[in-house]
Amino acid sequence: MNVQVCWYKKMSSENSIKSEKTPSESHAEVIVRMFPSDANPAGNVFGGEILKNIDMVAGIVAQRHSQSNAVTVSLDSVNFLKPVFVGNVLFLNARINYVHNSSMEIEVKAEAEDIVTGIRTITATAFVTFVALGKNGKPIPVPTLALKTDEDRIKFDEGKSRMERRLQNRQK
Ligand SMILES: CC(C)(COP(=O)(O)OP(=O)(O)OC[C@H]1O[C@@H](n2cnc3c(N)ncnc32)[C@H](O)[C@@H]1OP(=O)(O)O)[C@@H](O)C(=O)NCCC(=O)NCCS
Repeated sequence: MNVQVCWYKKMSSENSIKSEKTPSESHAEVIVRMFPSDANPAGNVFGGEILKNIDMVAGIVAQRHSQSNAVTVSLDSVNFLKPVFVGNVLFLNARINYVHNSSMEIEVKAEAEDIVTGIRTITATAFVTFVALGKNGKPIPVPTLALKTDEDRIKFDEGKSRMERRLQNRQK
């Protein structure tokens, strides 16, 4: 009986939503192998496949931070810097830069590794905006960001400027 009580307390504290979180608490890295079905006949991986994975890893960060459902509302222009080929391993690294009320800016860096040579190249970078939604499908507030490092503070300020520009360009 005592064991059950302790377990219940542990579960409820793990499930509680903090009012403030650091970027490192929601950081995510996803590693995906590229297969022929992800590419054109010459073996170049489709840009859309890379975008899908960018959206997927950014969604993990947004849901970790908000501990709620979160949907993509904006994906800034993405530049594909180097090709990704069938057989490459895609490393997607994502962190949260900025939050407002319900919105969150997530930065994603995608690198491709040639397994044979071990060489990794930066393939794409992207900024994705997610909005946290409550059970009724309406935006809900997310935890504020606890900025612990100089990098956190710089990325927060840069994210804020980008978000202001985004909202100026937003078309309803
Ligand atoms: C997310 C959604 C419910 C928000 O509805 P809305 O009427 O735009 O709500 P609001 O105007 O109150 O905006 C809510 C937040 O989203 C932000 N937002 C909305 N559109 C945005 C955009 N294009 N870029 C950046 N932020 C945006 C607002 O700034 C606001 O942020 P804040 O709460 O931090 O201040 C609605 O836009 C939606 O359902 N979009 C479709 C999402 C989707 O299906 N995505 C693809 C599949 S996951």
